[in-house]
Amino acid sequence: MKWMKVSSYEEMSKVACSIFVKQLQYKPNSVLGFATGGSPVGFYKEMVKSYQEGEISLDQVRSFNLDEYIGIPFNSPASYYSYMVENLFRHVNIPKESYHLPDGNAIDLKEECLRYDKSIEEAGGIDIQLLGIGVNGHIAFNEPGTSFESLTNIVNLTESTRIENARYFESLEDVPTQAITMGIQSIMNAKEIVLIAFGDKKVNSIKQLRGGKITEDFPASQLLKHPNLTVIYGSEG
Ligand code: GLP
Repeated sequence: MKWMKVSSYEEMSKVACSIFVKQLQYKPNSVLGFATGGSPVGFYKEMVKSYQEGEISLDQVRSFNLDEYIGIPFNSPASYYSYMVENLFRHVNIPKESYHLPDGNAIDLKEECLRYDKSIEEAGGIDIQLLGIGVNGHIAFNEPGTSFESLTNIVNLTESTRIENARYFESLEDVPTQAITMGIQSIMNAKEIVLIAFGDKKVNSIKQLRGGKITEDFPASQLLKHPNLTVIYGSEG
């Protein structure tokens, strides 16, 4: 486990990107695990820059995102699909058939969960997974209380997560109440994990993580058992 303290959001983004760049230079056909939210925006900017500067190519990459809302059109500006296209995919040379997000509009959502874990497995598993962390310690959409053994599944979003994410929607009522998320075990199956967290809002969750107590009440704590975890964190204060 590696803890890397940074002094700015920009530094966090650059350090995280450099880990992915190294991975891609070593294995151009890596399977990457991507996250959404505010934390990785700077990371994706750095990835686009690295691509534009010819440091990396994503033509052989396959990627899997952590989660997606249930019930909003995939091309709605608030979907995680649109987020990924806007922040990364449309700027780099990853083929359309190579990136994957859970389908929150699948007719059979349970079947979609099984299919998603299976397709990750068939791709050979995730080589390196990017993660953010929620203020309550959630990872992806795995809220406190989620079983550490969970695989991709359908979840009800807590009110606090919906309020947190309302900034991406016109109003709180528009925020979906459910999502499909990779489970904690699906995340733990990644060969390497990079967790990023910057800002005063994240100080407490990082403190709790550093405290070392592994409990389902704090989903991110299970990551402490991962053999190859890097946490890149910091705050203004
Ligand atoms: C959302 C996402 C998570 C993300 C978290 C924190 O709920 N599903 O994957 O890590 O929010 O987001 P932010 O980085 O915006 O603080």
